[in-house]
Amino acid sequence: MSQVEVAKKLAAYRAVDENLPPHAKVIGIGSGSTVIYAAERIGQLPNKNEFVCISTGFQSKQLIVDNGLRLGQIEQYPEIDIAFDGADEVDPNLNLIKGGGACLFQEKLVASAAKKLVIVADFRKQSKHLGEHWRQGVPIEVVPIAFSKVTRELTKLGAKKVDLRQGGKAKAGPVITDNYNFILDVDFGIIEDPQSLHLKLKQLVGVVDTGLFTGIAQKVYFGEENGEVTVWG
Ligand code: A5P
Repeated sequence: MSQVEVAKKLAAYRAVDENLPPHAKVIGIGSGSTVIYAAERIGQLPNKNEFVCISTGFQSKQLIVDNGLRLGQIEQYPEIDIAFDGADEVDPNLNLIKGGGACLFQEKLVASAAKKLVIVADFRKQSKHLGEHWRQGVPIEVVPIAFSKVTRELTKLGAKKVDLRQGGKAKAGPVITDNYNFILDVDFGIIEDPQSLHLKLKQLVGVVDTGLFTGIAQKVYFGEENGEVTVWG
């Protein structure tokens, strides 16, 4: 296992061990490569038949099923005791950029329904300011027919670059999210005020949600290169 994978696993296991309430009934499971270890740890619990897990997309649903956990729907369980998720970048105020894996809307839905959101990440995700290390831009989920209009408006709002995320070798044409939308990756440079930027973006007709998660995460666990775990929050 590479150093980065070890760091992800250590952070995720510790985050679950220190935060999962013993009598939790509803647990949110995020998306990405780090939360895999959180789902693995939750799957090791002897009482795993006593709670349900709510997914944040297709990959997350598979993680829940593959770890022998009970899958619930957010329509049935709109109050979540705790959610675990990854992040692409984290600043010291626990603002996040998410959506590198194109799952941001359902991640935000679950995070906003959760009493507590705990983030698991490796050392590469720490930043002084959002936009400093995560250079591919803020992911924004847009309704497909609105992408061109929203792109123009983003440029007027100061975006340096707007990319319609492509499937690359795996698919000719744009990535389609779990909600059948497109993702725009938008370079705003260093983001001084993520909350105010998020609010401006949300007002654009066609924007479903943004990968800026502000004031939502309560704790962030970073697996470090030296095998230690740093906790923010
Ligand atoms: C999915 O769209 C994302 O928000 C992920 O949670 C984020 O990209 C972190 O993923 P990794 O744990 O793979 O870095």
